[in-house]
Formats: sequence, structure tokens, C-alpha cells
Amino acid sequence: MKILITGGAGFVGSNLALALRAQLPGAEVVCMDNLYRRGSELNVPRLQAAGAQFHRGDVRDRAAFPAGPFDCLIECSAEPSVLAGQDGSPDYLFQTNLVGAYHCLEKARQWQSRFIFLSTSRVYPIARLEAHPWREEPTRFAWSDQGTAGISSRGVAEAVDLNGARSLYGYTKLSAEQLIEEYRAAFGLRAVVNRCGVIAGPWQFGKVDQGVASLWVLAHHFQRPLSYIGYGGAGKQVRDFLHVADLCDLILDQIRNFDQWDGWLGNVSGGLAHSASLCELTALCREVTGRETPVATVPENRPNDLRLFVADCTRLFQRTTWRPKRDVRRIIQDTHAWVTAHATQLSKL
Ligand SMILES: NC(=O)c1ccc[n+]([C@@H]2O[C@H](COP(=O)([O-])OP(=O)(O)OC[C@H]3O[C@@H](n4cnc5c(N)ncnc54)[C@H](O)[C@@H]3O)[C@@H](O)[C@H]2O)c1
Repeated sequence: MKILITGGAGFVGSNLALALRAQLPGAEVVCMDNLYRRGSELNVPRLQAAGAQFHRGDVRDRAAFPAGPFDCLIECSAEPSVLAGQDGSPDYLFQTNLVGAYHCLEKARQWQSRFIFLSTSRVYPIARLEAHPWREEPTRFAWSDQGTAGISSRGVAEAVDLNGARSLYGYTKLSAEQLIEEYRAAFGLRAVVNRCGVIAGPWQFGKVDQGVASLWVLAHHFQRPLSYIGYGGAGKQVRDFLHVADLCDLILDQIRNFDQWDGWLGNVSGGLAHSASLCELTALCREVTGRETPVATVPENRPNDLRLFVADCTRLFQRTTWRPKRDVRRIIQDTHAWVTAHATQLSKL
């Protein structure tokens, strides 16, 4: 089997390439990436050592793709920041996330490849999530069960009304989801869409606007200052986390049993059992790393921020026996072990 991973030197793409090389013996894995994300260049020797091929190329340019055909195309390239384009220059975001996804779809159509797309929980409209009733607990905010169709204390289900703004980033991903649907109808594309929440774990080069768990561990290890930004600055905003190794297990199952997964679109996330607030994350990082770092308070919200996001994965759990096996503590432990083992390289990023 020949598999192309676009964005294959990124956090998800590189972890997936290594998992595929380890668990699908004989699979030829090609990782295409333009190394736009700072830190992705560190993944290239890892990929090559694992027997994956690295192809430097940009999804904005259809001529830059490797020669096919491929049996499966996994689209993991993106400008993944929810703040992208907000500064008035959305060109890179649209060209990569929308035009790039279109180029991937065209390649999949030509090659008759199976297509796996990494979408995002950011497709859900911000105002609807923010308006849902919530309460304040000692260390976190929590959603109530009633108030908005599709949202409960378990989280946001796919049934929630999609009308409303969702950030430029969220728009590009929802548009790509819809384009996949059109390719399915027009050309018989066989495709799977995973709407991911926060993915975390080793080899994520976390920054303030993306990769919060890794950012938190890196800051604790290197004693760099952090901030609780928004919602009064108490660090009570909540996300659910999925260990990248759990995501890789699921995608492996999708590749192995593609006929059963063809047509899938839904939430893929840690869910309420794997959620944490920022201040809970701080406590965990202090415990695991044995180090403390100052955390400042910035009461004002940032654009596109969310008080709470937890995905309700009922639709997913009805379809598969797969469940996230690694909890938030394990995410922090594994990320810390990675930071400790690569401290010299990582201190320069
Ligand atoms: N990490 C998360 O928490 C998360 C959550 C939901 C969805 N996703 C989605 O998962 C996918 C992977 O995200 P990630 O966390 O690995 O991000 P990442 O930034 O680590 O990886 C993306 C990779 O794409 C590459 N890239 C960017 N522009 C490119 C271009 N024009 N041509 C070729 N390569 C390009 C980058 O260099 C990087 O290596 C993305 O589609 C993202 O939207 C991620």
C-alpha cells in the first residue's frame, strides 16, 4: 500500500507516519511538507530513520506533489492556528487550508485514492458555544445539560446548528469538509472526515495560539512564564484532550477497515473524561515536571476564544469499539519525557 501524508512533517502527520511504518509492514509512506511550521524540520530525520520518504513540497502548488498514484491520501497539512488571518492577512490560511485541500482532493480523484481528512472542532459556531449555559466550579467551568440543541454537559454533538461565525480557520476546515462531500457526490470519492478537538503529545511544538498541552509542559520544563488569558484570568477554561497515539490507533483502524469507515464524518476527541482546565493543567505539570513557573493573569478575552470546548463523541462510540486509552496525565507525562530527552534541541525553538 502506498500512503501520502500531506503535512507529514507536522505533529500529527509525523506521528502518524511513524505509526504506519511500525504497524503496517510493507506500507510505503511518503510525507510531503513545506516545513512552514517551526520545529517540523526536526521531524525529517525521524521520518527518514523510520523508513518514510520525505518530499519537500507545498500543497498550494499542485505541481509540487510527488508522482502517484497513492492508495490513500491523508491530508494533515494546515495553518492550524485559530488566530490565523485575524491580523488582516488571511492569504496563507486560505491558500493552504482551502486551495491546498482542493489540490489534495484533485490528486485523490486522479489517483482514485482513499481520502482521510483531519478537520477540527472549530467548525462549530463560536457564539452558539459561548451562549450555552455554564457554571463555575472551584477549578473549572462546566456546561449545563440544557439550553442549546446539540450541547449538554457531555459536550458538543454533531447535531448542533452550524450557522454563525467560527473563525477564519474554522471556516476553511468546514469548507474543506463540504468540498469533500461534493467530491463524494460528483466523483464517487471515498472519504473519512475526523473532526478533532485538541490533540496533544510528544513532538508537538506548542505555541501560544496552538498546542496548549505541549506549550504548558515546555514552559514548566524551561521555566518560561505563562498566562491565563481571558474569562477573568483564573485559568478555568476547559478543553478535552486526545493523545496523538490514540488518534493514530483510530486512523490505522480506518485505513485497515476503510470500507466500514467510508462516509464517516464526526467528532474525534477525548471527551469529558479527558478534559482539563488551564489551572488543572498547571497543577498536573507542576506534579509531573517537579518544576514551577510563574503564571500571569490577563482577564481580557482574545478573539475567537472559547470558555469551554468538550466534544460529545457518542456518534463515534456507536460506530467503533475504539476508545481513547491515554488520559491527560499520560499526555503530560509522555510530553515531558519527550521534552527531557530533546531538551537541547527544544530550548532553541
Ligand atoms: N493539533 C491539534 O490540536 C488539532 C486539532 C484539530 C485539528 N487539527 C488538524 O490536524 C492537522 C494537523 O495539525 P498539526 O497539529 O499536526 O499541525 P502542525 O502545524 O504540527 O502540522 C501541519 C504541517 O503542515 C505543514 N504545512 C503548512 N502549510 C503547508 C503547505 N502550504 N504545504 C505543505 N505543508 C504545509 C506544516 O509545515 C506542518 O508541518 C491540521 O489539518 C489541523 O487543522 C489539529
